Amino acid sequence: MWTCPRSCGTCGRRCWRRSIETVRSMNALVMNCSPVRNGATAEIAGIVSECLKDRYEVTSVCIDDFKINYCKGCRSCHSTAKCVQHDDVDSILKLYERADVIVSVAPSYWADIPGQFKAFIDRCTPWCNTHEPHAAIPKGKRGYSIALRTGPSMRECNRVIESIEHFYGHLEIDRCGSLGLCSIEYREAVAERKNEIVEFCGRI
Ligand SMILES: Cc1cc2nc3c(=O)[nH]c(=O)nc-3n(C[C@H](O)[C@H](O)[C@H](O)COP(=O)(O)O)c2cc1C
Repeated sequence: MWTCPRSCGTCGRRCWRRSIETVRSMNALVMNCSPVRNGATAEIAGIVSECLKDRYEVTSVCIDDFKINYCKGCRSCHSTAKCVQHDDVDSILKLYERADVIVSVAPSYWADIPGQFKAFIDRCTPWCNTHEPHAAIPKGKRGYSIALRTGPSMRECNRVIESIEHFYGHLEIDRCGSLGLCSIEYREAVAERKNEIVEFCGRI
C-alpha cells in the first residue's frame, strides 16, 4: 500500500502535487522601478521574473504602468492613516498585500532612485510605521533590492539599495537581500551579468 511521504494521512497520492502547488501559490512581485519599459532595468527584472516563475506566481510591473501623483505633504495621513488622493498607489499597495516576495529593481538616477519610484514611496506615508494610526500591509513579506548604474563604483549602488531598504523597513517588509550591478548603461550590457543575477535569484 502506498504511504503518504508527509504522513498527513488524508491526501493520498495528491500529497506531493499539493506541496508543489503550495510553493507555487507563493506570490512574487517584481517591479521595474525605472520609467524605461525596455531598458537595462527591464532586462534585469525580466531575468528575475523568469528565474522565479517555477517557484512563485510572478507579477511583473513597471513603475511607469501607474499614475502616481506627488505627495502634497499635507500630513492628513498622520491622523487618518489614509491619503487624500486616490490614484494607482492603491493598486500597487494591493499588489504588495498579495505578494509574499517583493523584488524592486532600480537604476541610479543622479545617485539615487528614479523620481517616479520616489514619488510612489512618498505616497506610501499612510503605511509608514513612524506615526499612529498608520495603515499596514500584512507582516512576513520578504523584500529584495537590485540596483544598477553606469558608473564603476559600488558605493552609488549601495545608496540606491539603502533608499529601497529604508522604505521596506518602514513598511515592515523584511530586508532579505540585495544585489548591486555597476557598469551597466543599456540593456545589451545585462547579458554578461546574467550569471550574477541568476545566482542572486537562487537565494530568493
Ligand atoms: C536621468 C538619468 C540619471 C542617471 N544618473 C546616473 C548616475 O548618477 N550614476 C550612474 O552611474 N548612472 C546614472 N544613470 C545611468 C543609469 O543608471 C543606467 O543607464 C541604467 O542602466 C538605466 O537603466 P534604465 O534605462 O532601465 O532606466 C542615469 C541615467 C539617467 C537616464
